[in-house]
Amino acid sequence: MEYYDQISQSAAFLREIIPQGIQDAVILGTGLGKFENNIKKILEIPYETIPNFPSSTVKSHSGKLIIGKLDSKTLLVFSGRFHYYEGYSMKSLTLPIRVLALLGIKNLFITNVAGGVKESFNAGDLVMIKDHINLLPENPLRGINDDRLGIRFPDMKDTYTPSLRLKAQNIAEEMGLNLKSGVYLALQGPNLETAAEYQFIHHIGADLVGMSTVPEVIVARHSGMNIFAVSIVSNVCYPPERITETTLESVLEVAENSGNKLSQLLSKLIIN
Ligand code: HPA
Repeated sequence: MEYYDQISQSAAFLREIIPQGIQDAVILGTGLGKFENNIKKILEIPYETIPNFPSSTVKSHSGKLIIGKLDSKTLLVFSGRFHYYEGYSMKSLTLPIRVLALLGIKNLFITNVAGGVKESFNAGDLVMIKDHINLLPENPLRGINDDRLGIRFPDMKDTYTPSLRLKAQNIAEEMGLNLKSGVYLALQGPNLETAAEYQFIHHIGADLVGMSTVPEVIVARHSGMNIFAVSIVSNVCYPPERITETTLESVLEVAENSGNKLSQLLSKLIIN
């Protein structure tokens, strides 16, 4: 089936079972399931029941689309995300974002965990993504452009919507939360980086490094959505003497500890 037809089929399936007029969607990163506790759940749809959806293979990601309420606002929450290192093609990995666009979603909120490659970043810090460097080996927009989905050469200036970042900064100040800001660099993983690679990443202008987010952001941008993305620094990677051994468990522990403040920030940002 043609890609556009697949997306249309998935969107048609969801349109039948979810409320109309939802404008906001959230993608929860590794270990960030806490946000789910903030929403009043209306419906949970396992990914494997949605036509054409890839299914999640990583243990720390559960794999369901949640329809829920934050105050009076209804939103979609992806609990469990897809990564390039799992073996998906970029097209299949970003199909859910295309479906969101067809459903009329205007604002996409993305969370992740990332390595911190800036001296002033510490484990547990919340860092808003202000820009990115894409070093992934494949681009989701590669191939013949389908003009129904977006233009051939999307501009990437202000991809991370400035007004949302400003709003988040104001909310963080009100909450007494130290919200930092930085440039996210995407690599395919799944191995973490060597000390030499972390130094390289720092020197080419990044503050964070991770294995997700950028494919979704490129497709959301191509689709004309507003985008807000925030990382929890799960491990400190620069300068080299600060690097300690990083495991999935250590990453999940840091994400768990910072999960509450991230959830609160995100909830306020979406409601306001
Ligand atoms: N590198 C890449 N991805 C990551 C890291 C890292 O150090 N930490 C969490 N995700």
